[in-house]
Amino acid sequence: MSPVRKGVVDPAQPVCRAGVQVEIADWETAAALVMPVRMTVFVHEQGVPEEIERDDFDALSRHAIARDGRGAVVATGRLLPDGHIGRMAVLAPMRGKGAGGAVLQALVAEAVRRGLSGVALNAQVHALDFYRRHGFVEHGEVFMEAGIAHRAMRRAL
Ligand SMILES: CC(C)(COP(=O)(O)OP(=O)(O)OC[C@H]1O[C@@H](n2cnc3c(N)ncnc32)[C@H](O)[C@@H]1OP(=O)(O)O)[C@@H](O)C(=O)NCCC(=O)NCCS
Repeated sequence: MSPVRKGVVDPAQPVCRAGVQVEIADWETAAALVMPVRMTVFVHEQGVPEEIERDDFDALSRHAIARDGRGAVVATGRLLPDGHIGRMAVLAPMRGKGAGGAVLQALVAEAVRRGLSGVALNAQVHALDFYRRHGFVEHGEVFMEAGIAHRAMRRAL
């Protein structure tokens, strides 16, 4: 019997929703696969400085690698050891089809698997509804990070 709670995707299985397949990997495996997505979305599209996009937490994190039906990597996100989720990015043509939701579910499931009691993230304010749909609740004031308005959110597991 799986210890994973009802409604949470089993982390032992790759998540396959909306035509994307999500696996969880360490940075050594994920780096070359997910960095092009992060560069496209954060650096080129959102104007985040490349030196901010890269940090030392990647090597400590678990990473979601989401592939479309042809095997191309189209979305990613990461889970830090303390339960913080970040670097959620879906290539623009793939948005609104469930890829981001599949990545988020896979990261939450990984947090459950690791025995964490909750997950947290700093949401760009335009994406608050996206995270609310996945059980995250905002707290605190809006703040600026990399020139983008954010709000802290958390979800108990
Ligand atoms: C935010 C993001 C990760 C969502 O991924 P996605 O694959 O588009 O999301 P999904 O398709 O799983 O879910 C989309 C749903 O969330 C809702 N939503 C709310 N705000 C949204 C937003 N800013 N972007 C996308 N969807 C949003 C949509 O209404 C949609 O619901 P619908 O299907 O009923 O229309 C993606 O749009 C993205 O990479 N954006 C650019 C980078 C970014 O802002 N990252 C977030 C950093 S906090």
